[in-house]
Amino acid sequence: MEGFLGETYFWVKAFHIIFVIFWMAGLFMMPRYFAYHAEAAANSDEGVIWVEREKRLLRIIMNPSMILAWLFGLMMAAHMGAGLGAWFHVKLLLVLALTIFHMLLAKWRKQIARGEQVLSSKAFRMINEIPALIIIAVVILAVVKPF
Ligand code: HEM
Repeated sequence: MEGFLGETYFWVKAFHIIFVIFWMAGLFMMPRYFAYHAEAAANSDEGVIWVEREKRLLRIIMNPSMILAWLFGLMMAAHMGAGLGAWFHVKLLLVLALTIFHMLLAKWRKQIARGEQVLSSKAFRMINEIPALIIIAVVILAVVKPF
């Protein structure tokens, strides 16, 4: 296979998809955690447990998975070079939007840990529609490559 990765390309793609799955799982779980947390009484033991869970989800799963999904994705992009179509640029824009969503969740996590109420439990449940729609578009762009 042409490109600097050679046959290793397929391994890089496999790990790209693995870390994308972990990252996306985190993007869906965090707003759920916030919703359950918002339903716990302020300053309760349960609230303290949610703060710890949110911190671990971000630090152990979401941050490393996002970095590795980006790393393996950019390695494949470098391997393909000029062979990349317009689909890739649109995918990149949408993935940037997912990255901004990730950062917004990280910012909210800090505020919530300080005891601030950011959004209602219902709003946190609804917010999951945003990454879901973006992910549908990203997967279609990556797999079908319509343009
Ligand atoms: C983090 C930044 C990302 C970069 C730089 C990136 C880049 C790439 C590149 C260059 C490929 C190779 C395409 C090919 O072999 O034709 C690829 C494959 C793929 N990417 Fe990404 N990607 C990123 C994030 C994502 C995300 C967030 C998703 C899903 C929500 C995703 C889903 C996929 C899938 C399913 C494939 C396999 C496509 C196929 O071989 O049919 N990627 N990615």
